[in-house]
Amino acid sequence: MTDKPAYYITTPIYYVNDVPHIGHAYTTLACDVMARFKRLDGYDVMFLTGTDEHGQKIERSAADAGVPPLEFCDKVSARFQELADAMNYSHNQFIRTTEERHKKAVQHLWKVLEDKGFIYQDNYAGWYSVRDEAFYAEKELTEGEDGQKLAPTGAPVEWVEEPSFFFKLSAFEEQLLALYDNGQEFVMPKSRLNEVRSFVKGGLEDLSISRSSFTWGVPVPEHEGHVMYVWIDALTNYLTAIGYPDVDAADYQAFWPADLHMVGKDILRFHAVYWPAFLMAADLPLPKRVFAHGWWTNEGQKISKSLGNVIDPFELMESYGLDPVRFFLLREVPFGNDGDFSRKAFVLTCNANLAKGLGNLAQRTLSMVFKNCEAQIPVPSEFTNEDKEILSTTDNLIQIVRAHMDQQEFHSALEAIFAHAAAGDKYISVQEPWKLKKTDPERMNTVLYVLSDVIRQLAILIQPIMPESGAKFLDMLKIEDRSFAELGADHRLAPGTPIDKPEGVFPQFELPEEGAE
Ligand code: MSP
Repeated sequence: MTDKPAYYITTPIYYVNDVPHIGHAYTTLACDVMARFKRLDGYDVMFLTGTDEHGQKIERSAADAGVPPLEFCDKVSARFQELADAMNYSHNQFIRTTEERHKKAVQHLWKVLEDKGFIYQDNYAGWYSVRDEAFYAEKELTEGEDGQKLAPTGAPVEWVEEPSFFFKLSAFEEQLLALYDNGQEFVMPKSRLNEVRSFVKGGLEDLSISRSSFTWGVPVPEHEGHVMYVWIDALTNYLTAIGYPDVDAADYQAFWPADLHMVGKDILRFHAVYWPAFLMAADLPLPKRVFAHGWWTNEGQKISKSLGNVIDPFELMESYGLDPVRFFLLREVPFGNDGDFSRKAFVLTCNANLAKGLGNLAQRTLSMVFKNCEAQIPVPSEFTNEDKEILSTTDNLIQIVRAHMDQQEFHSALEAIFAHAAAGDKYISVQEPWKLKKTDPERMNTVLYVLSDVIRQLAILIQPIMPESGAKFLDMLKIEDRSFAELGADHRLAPGTPIDKPEGVFPQFELPEEGAE
C-alpha cells in the first residue's frame, strides 16, 4: 500500500491481425509520456497496454496465414511486445485477451448484465464490418464503385443473419447524455464530445453482443454456440488487469475507476457510448476520461497496408534513434488533431529543437564548465535581475507543463519546455560567458551556474518524453534525485560537484533528398 495518489491510464488493446505501425506506436507513446509524467509528479501509476486477440477478423487472418488462431496471436502479440520494449514504454502490464483471467472477468461481467436484466436473446439481421468489428445501420452505408456497400470508415460490410444476444443499450440514452453534460470532460477534445453527443441524441438501438456463426471468442456462459462480440470482450480488459471480478483486489481498490482511456478517434464510439453503458448497467463506477486523438497520414496519404505506405516504427528508430521519434510524434501535431508525417518535417523539427536547441545550449554550457571551471559546478556570486528572472521562470515551468499535461496538450507542454531552452540560448548570447573568463571570472561562474541549473531542470522535465536523453544530461551533472519534487529553488545544483566531460546528446540530421520519401 502506498499513500501516493493513484493514476490509472490505458491504451486500446491492439488487434493482432496487423504488424505494429506508427499509429499504434503513437497511442501507446502518448500514454507512456502521461504515465512517466505522473510517476515523476508523485503518483502511483498503473499503465496498461496489450493485445485484442478474439473475433472474426483475427480468426480470418489466422486462417489466411494457415495457422491455428492462438499460435497466430502468440506471434503477432510478441511483435507488439517488442515494439513496447523498443519504444521504451513503461507499462506495468501487457494484457492479452486470450488469457484465462480475462475470460473469467468477461464471463463474470456478462452474468452480471444478464442477471440485472440487460441482456435478451433475439436474431441479428444486418450489416457487419469484419475490418471494424462493428455493426452498421443501413442509413450509415455508402456504395463503392463496384457496388460493394461500405461503412463510414470505408471498410466493406457484409450481411449477417444469426441468433444473437442483445444488450439493452437503448435504455441508457438519458444517462449517457447526462454524463456528457456533467461538466467533467468525460470525452476530450470538446469537438469529439459533440460528435458523441449527437450520435446518442440520434437514438440508440440495442447492441448485438454475441456471435454464433464462428467460434473464436470467449464463450457466452451457459449459452452454447455463442461467443461474445469482440468489443464487449475487449473493453473489459481494463477491468481484468486490475483484478476484476475480485473488487476487493488491491489493484482494483487502488485504480478503478480509470483516470484516462486513451483511444484513436476511430474507436471513440465504443469507449464513450458502449463502455459507460455496460458499466452503468453493471453498477460499476465510470472511467473519468476518454481522450480521442487524431490520425497520422504519410506524406499526405492515408496510411494503409494496401497502399504500401505504412510507417514502420522500428525502421524510424533505426534511422533517427528512439528519443527523436518520441519527441517528434508528440511535438509536431496538436494532440487530438490529425497530422501528416514527413521526413522533412521530422528532420527540421528535431534539428531546431533538439540538436540546435536544448542540445546546443547544454553542450556550450557544460563544455565551458568542464574547461573553465575545473569540471566542477562553479560557485555563484550574487545574482543579477536577469539571473533571477531566468531562474524563477525555470522554477515555475513545471506549473505550465503540468497544466498542459492534465489536458493531454502534449505539444503545448513540449513547446513550453523548448521555448524555455530558447530563452536559455538568449541569456547565454546576452551574457557572453566565453568573454568573461579573463575579464570577470566571478561573473562567468555565476552565469555558468545559472545556466547549469536551467539545464538540470530542463533535463528533469524532458524525462517523460525523452527518458534516455534526460538521463544522459542528468548523468553528466551527477544528479541522482530526478523526480519533479527536485525542481525549483530549494534543490539548486551544489557548487563544487564534479561533472562528466559533456557528450553530444542529440545528433543533427540531414534533410532527405527531394523526392525521397
Ligand atoms: N482492438 C481495437 C481496440 C480495442 S480497445 C478495448 C483496435 N485496435 S487497432 O489495432 O485497430 O487500433 C488501435 C489504435 O491504433 C487505435 O486507437 C487507432 O486509432 C490507432 N491507430 C491506428 N492507425 C492509426 C493512424 N494511422 N494514426 C494514429 N493512430 C492510429 O481498434
